[in-house]
Amino acid sequence: MSKNIVWSESIIGRKERESMLGQNGVVIWMTGLSGSGKSTIAKKVQEKLHEKNKLAYILDGDNIRHGLNKDLGFSKEDRIENLRRITEVGKLFVDLGVITIVSFISPYRQDREVIRNSFLPGEFIEVYVKCSLEECEKRDVKGLYKKARDGVIKNFTGIDSEYEAPIDAEVVLDTENKSVNELSDKLIDFITNS
Ligand code: PPS
Repeated sequence: MSKNIVWSESIIGRKERESMLGQNGVVIWMTGLSGSGKSTIAKKVQEKLHEKNKLAYILDGDNIRHGLNKDLGFSKEDRIENLRRITEVGKLFVDLGVITIVSFISPYRQDREVIRNSFLPGEFIEVYVKCSLEECEKRDVKGLYKKARDGVIKNFTGIDSEYEAPIDAEVVLDTENKSVNELSDKLIDFITNS
């Protein structure tokens, strides 16, 4: 960053925006294998929050890779850059006062720790969308696991690129054993009571 850049403070700040919205900005960082159910739960949580008149927005890996991050692939470096950019976007959304639901595989523990430390305490909620590789592969909603097994896709998470499950996520959502409805309620309870 150039030395000649000076931060400009707004007259209307986060507190004013949050009080206008009647909510606090927070980032709900959903991590999990492809096909684990991140996007499905994110959509259900957003829908339920909307019914409660709460403003929530989803930043989804697949979608962001269509635009802002369309220059990035799935090498380790690109995944790190992918998440760095999303962290910055997430910070803007949190500053806006929005309940920001981030749905990215975010496979590396250390990267998620760096992301956590980019937010103020309490602003970052790590949510592990837990589902075994076997089950994700069985679901294979997008047919990507088959392509990865056939060698058509390289660096596919869980196949030839690692996924490091969280050890101390604030919330664990087990999509193999519970319904989307139950899990979205569990997450909303956590957000509401924390
Ligand atoms: S990451 O690891 O956080 O940078 O990944 P993310 O930005 O969330 O993108 C994951 C979605 O991209 C599709 N896809 C792949 N995923 C993993 N590995 C490889 N090689 C790959 N290629 C394409 C896939 O649809 C992921 O979507 P989800 O919603 O996770 O299934």
